[in-house]
Amino acid sequence: MGMKPPEGMKLWNNGKRIDGRSADELRPIKIHAGVLKRADGSCYLEWGGNKVLAGVYGPREVHPRHDMNPTQAIVRCRYNMAAFSVGDRKRPGPDRRSQEISKVTSEALRPVILTHLFPRTAIDVFVEIIEAEAGSRCAGLTAASVALADAGIPMKGMVAACAAGKIDGHVVLDLAREEDNYGETDLPIATIPRTGEIVLLQMDGDFTDEELSQAIDMAIQACARIHEIQKQALRDRYKDAAVTDRPPAPPDMEPPTASDEGADVLEKPAGGSEEGW
Ligand code: CDP
Repeated sequence: MGMKPPEGMKLWNNGKRIDGRSADELRPIKIHAGVLKRADGSCYLEWGGNKVLAGVYGPREVHPRHDMNPTQAIVRCRYNMAAFSVGDRKRPGPDRRSQEISKVTSEALRPVILTHLFPRTAIDVFVEIIEAEAGSRCAGLTAASVALADAGIPMKGMVAACAAGKIDGHVVLDLAREEDNYGETDLPIATIPRTGEIVLLQMDGDFTDEELSQAIDMAIQACARIHEIQKQALRDRYKDAAVTDRPPAPPDMEPPTASDEGADVLEKPAGGSEEGW
């Protein structure tokens, strides 16, 4: 943020950004739920140049045991950037930045998880950044909440995250790498779109009052759009599960017809309303 751009680089050019997007356009997002076999829940997400894997393990026994809470589950998140995830090799292991992002990720997810249902347990969330290109904390949080839903952890809603910012005096959505490096402001926000609550709000740089409200509105609206993609990823996951996890039919039974398959695919998971994901 705030670095001087290289000679001739224009972040804003006739209403278009460096990658051709308009001010309130997101980079392309793809989400797949249920990608890790040994995790209780998982998600692979691509968002612009970010590639993120999230795995959820638990509710499970707490180690070390003195961390255990007798009244609720503890939620622990670890955000980690692979050494090969950025242009310059990143020194492996935790650093101040990854500790900060792990902390804010835990704090954003804790309020949505119904932790009181699982006393004396731990819910561990791992976010691995395989490739990073600005906005990786938002990408990680978005992936982590899909992985939590995939693990069947009861939540009051999913968390979706997106940054807004300022480049060349213009408020824009979802900063690209150059915009993050050379822009004026970065404002990552995470919301629970189902309830409208904000669970993460950080800011690097400066805004006027008016720009701040515009940026917050823009990011909140984007979170609602991202929430739709998250829900679709879970629907696709159940659709795949309905087809691939079907036990083999006993030998004397007719194989299911195409219309039977369709019925399974369209049904929502038992007892769960789509809005509850
Ligand atoms: O990724 P996010 O925007 O949430 O966090 P950031 O600290 O603002 O980092 C912005 C970007 O800088 C990252 O997404 C990476 O692309 C890059 N970065 C890097 O190249 N090397 C690092 N050690 C850390 C970040």
